[in-house]
Amino acid sequence: MKNFNAVKEYLSSLIGVPYYVADNCILFNTDTLSVLGRVDRRLFDAIITSPPYNIGKEYESVKPLNDYIDWSVEWITGASAMLNPTGALLLNLGYVSIEEQGHAIPLPYLLWDKIPLYLNQEIVWNYSAGVACKNYLSPRNEKVLWYVKSKDNYTFNLDAIRDKNVKYPNSKRNGKPRVNTLGKNPSDVWEIAKVTTGYNRSSDERTPHPCQFPTDLIDRLVLGFTNEGDIVFDPFIGSGTTFDSCLRNNRFCVGFEIKREYCEIAKKRAVAILRPQQQTSLFPINQKVLQYESV
Ligand SMILES: C[S@@+](CC[C@H](N)C(=O)[O-])C[C@H]1O[C@@H](n2cnc3c(N)ncnc32)[C@H](O)[C@@H]1O
Repeated sequence: MKNFNAVKEYLSSLIGVPYYVADNCILFNTDTLSVLGRVDRRLFDAIITSPPYNIGKEYESVKPLNDYIDWSVEWITGASAMLNPTGALLLNLGYVSIEEQGHAIPLPYLLWDKIPLYLNQEIVWNYSAGVACKNYLSPRNEKVLWYVKSKDNYTFNLDAIRDKNVKYPNSKRNGKPRVNTLGKNPSDVWEIAKVTTGYNRSSDERTPHPCQFPTDLIDRLVLGFTNEGDIVFDPFIGSGTTFDSCLRNNRFCVGFEIKREYCEIAKKRAVAILRPQQQTSLFPINQKVLQYESV
């Protein structure tokens, strides 16, 4: 089912009136879990998302660990059932602390064997700044798990995400360039600054959402693991970074978000891309909630 209008109509018939809809995107103010079991079609080419980590952010209530794992398995299983046979799940996860068991346990370790998808690779997202610890190493990474539905048939656009940081771009062997002019083959460690902390925290893309992704991170996922015209789903869209990237890169996007105030942020970002001539400053600096840190 790759007709985006049909996807929009089908989801609206299940969920009701969308919070925002445009040609290339649709946003529902809904609890993702309340929808998943009711969808009986393969709608999406990729899921790109970052769910709550169960660490007490303002948009979540902390669950006992086993409940959180059950909740995660439920949404991942439901969302995976909506993926096309060549689809992928790009899942960002962090760490949890479990009393008497561990200080910083990677959430992917708790989930990897409970997910009905093939784990192709783990991407380490290395960011430049965050809390400084005295008794531990200061955390500077989270993971993006690259799951695929079929281990033999998936999208990977190597050239779209080549690493431009080439030390000797003009070096030659037997008169021929040694380095691909588009850049080096990308590694599984990506250095991208956060927008919620560090030197990029006042960047133009920053919104009041406490855990907003940098667009550079989502752009790399969208360009590397989806094709133009693909339909991408973000079941926890937050400030709408996945919308932002999909709209700029000619993908369609479906977003779910439980909090109305975040829907409004995501909508504003989408409108700013679709109708840039009408925009002034999206989120003036005094509206940014700079006290929130995501680590
Ligand atoms: C880690 S944030 C996502 C941030 C997003 N990647 C961005 O760039 O802004 C998780 C989001 O999931 C939303 N959320 C939490 N539980 C939800 C649920 N059951 N259904 C839909 N959205 C939910 C939260 O309100 C929050 O905005």
